[in-house]
Amino acid sequence: MTLVLMERPAPHVTLLRLNRPEVRNALSPALRVELRDHMLGLSEDRDCRAIVITGNEKAFAAGADIKAMVATEPAEMMAHGDETNWAAIRNCPKPVIAAVNGYALGGGCELAMCADVIIAGKGARFGQPEVRLGIMPGAGGTQRLPRAIGKHRAMLMLLTGSMMDAEEAFAAGLVSKVVPDDAVLAESLKVAVDIASMPPLAVAEIKRVVLAGADAPLDTAIMMERRAAYLLFGTEDKREAMTAFLEKRKPTFTGA
Ligand code: HXC
Repeated sequence: MTLVLMERPAPHVTLLRLNRPEVRNALSPALRVELRDHMLGLSEDRDCRAIVITGNEKAFAAGADIKAMVATEPAEMMAHGDETNWAAIRNCPKPVIAAVNGYALGGGCELAMCADVIIAGKGARFGQPEVRLGIMPGAGGTQRLPRAIGKHRAMLMLLTGSMMDAEEAFAAGLVSKVVPDDAVLAESLKVAVDIASMPPLAVAEIKRVVLAGADAPLDTAIMMERRAAYLLFGTEDKREAMTAFLEKRKPTFTGA
């Protein structure tokens, strides 16, 4: 069975659907490898300008596969090379939108947090329940959640495994937008189409500077921003965008 389905629902937009509905899209090692391979391929694919990752109506993903983990020893965890799977998602230069319906728990919440934009259905639930399994997040949860929603709300979730609904997650800054459950995919694709219509080099630099800058001292980050902003003045798309504005016409971007 294909564990991650890939579609091209609009020009320059790729949709990846996690496909283990019988186990709430639990992230088995095989699924993670498929996802990694797609993300590596799309990172290099010049035709792809935005990626939407989604699950199904019940679950975005209910975390790592507990059946696959119950007897796993540390050495085996290290040998899995799971870090390279997550790195492929984390380091993807294309904008990633998580379209979340239902549960985004554990590794599922961590996957959503790797995305640049999170669109959640009203019924979405976010959580890091690892503590209840005697473990802890291992793919960024203890770091990304506090950065997204602040230490004290994050600690409450991490230490008790409690879930946050979509409205709470929006108020806390974890999600970009909440929409009715049946509108999640359409809204996510709309955002992806919108991003895909922007000048790709500007999009790529914005993503790069936001992510790299967040981990750098402010002065260094501002310098990175200035350098990237100046660099974009050398692009064809900048000339086209500004000329089109002045000529009161729609721009046509080539990515050059
Ligand atoms: C394996 C899972 C699963 C998971 C659900 N299933 N989540 N199987 N791994 N993470 C399976 C169930 O066993 C069940 O199988 C079927 O999916 C449907 O689940 P139900 O529990 O019956 O559904 P529901 O009542 O709707 O509850 C959904 C749920 C619950 C709230 C998502 O399933 C749940 O709490 N799942 C575990 C979530 C979790 O703890 N995630 C963190 C994993 S650890 P059967 O065969 O009975 O139909 C992690 C980090 C690892 O992600 C870090 C490593 C370093």
